[in-house]
Amino acid sequence: MSDKIILGIESSCDETAAAVVANGHQVLSSVLNSQVKLHEKYGGVVPEIAARAHIECIIPLIKEAIAKAGIEPERLDAIAVANCPGLTPALLIGVTAAKSLAWAWEKPLIAVNHIHCHLHSVMLDESAECFPAVALVVSGGHTSLYDCKSPMEMELLGQTIDDAAGEAFDKAAAILKLPYPGGPSIQKAAENGNPKAVRFPRTMLGPDSLDFSFSGIKTSVLYHCKGQNMLGENNAEQMSQQEIADIAASFQEAVVEVLVKKTIRAAKLTGHKYVLLGGGVAANSVLRDRLDQVCCSNKLKLVVSQKKYCTDNAAMVAGLAYYKLQAGLTSDFSLEPVSTQRKKHK
Ligand code: KG4
Ligand code: ZN
Repeated sequence: MSDKIILGIESSCDETAAAVVANGHQVLSSVLNSQVKLHEKYGGVVPEIAARAHIECIIPLIKEAIAKAGIEPERLDAIAVANCPGLTPALLIGVTAAKSLAWAWEKPLIAVNHIHCHLHSVMLDESAECFPAVALVVSGGHTSLYDCKSPMEMELLGQTIDDAAGEAFDKAAAILKLPYPGGPSIQKAAENGNPKAVRFPRTMLGPDSLDFSFSGIKTSVLYHCKGQNMLGENNAEQMSQQEIADIAASFQEAVVEVLVKKTIRAAKLTGHKYVLLGGGVAANSVLRDRLDQVCCSNKLKLVVSQKKYCTDNAAMVAGLAYYKLQAGLTSDFSLEPVSTQRKKHK
């Protein structure tokens, strides 16, 4: 059987990306352009600015991905794109590019869900067995737990009822006047901090819940910086580096504790032995290490995305699309972006 080679395209938020992947796992190329610099002064992603930046670099990136993979476009078996969820103007650019290329090159068109792609990222450059599994996707727009029987069978077990974990990192960082995006800034500041310095709330939503809530902890960080009556100024700018480090470490500790406890709860409920971890927040070293330790002590096997595939990329798009191609799940040219749920703001 010859290799199935797929071009993936990603433009759901603030990264334009293209990748070529063989057989769902083997990454032949993966390139991207991050727009962080364009959005940083707004403290969040501006959809129209994102869309314009996607237009400027999507074709050069696709050319680069194909060239780096060392193939000609004729060799591609399909063109895949994440068409949901995301920012509609941003998604539209990737969807239009994918439809145009699929039409011009006469290739099947495959649409995938961006969140499901984050799960697939654990399988990139890997071929080890990892199903059935409980999967945690933690990103800037989503915090979701899934029961996964196979790469294509994912049942939602729980999700955030308010802010996503990444969004909480971004908002807490903004309160602490740390640079955008907040996740990496909080992690860096926390390296020198005491995780026990401030006791931030751990919202568990009851003993059996698999849902998450992170809006309370963000408010607690704000209270901590403004004083309990919220009448004061945000003191973050006057705080010492050590105080900021302590708040960052304490915040990170509280978020990680909740994510780990709920994931283990889901693993116990389903009885699955594999735990998958993907999404931008999965790049967090404290989360990776803690979940690994706790999985080991519960005789569970953690499979986590390589750091380079945690944040948005197109290899995860082309990877998941392989299974859809095998199942004959292609789309026609009426494919449109679907923005459901995804949000990214201050
Ligand atoms: O998956 P992603 O690139 O985009 C979405 O699909 O949302 O995730 C971006 C999110 C941002 O909120 C960012 O702050 C967070 O992932 N993030 C991190 C780290 N690196 C990125 N959060 C915590 N620790 C990190 N090291
Ligand atoms: Zn994402």
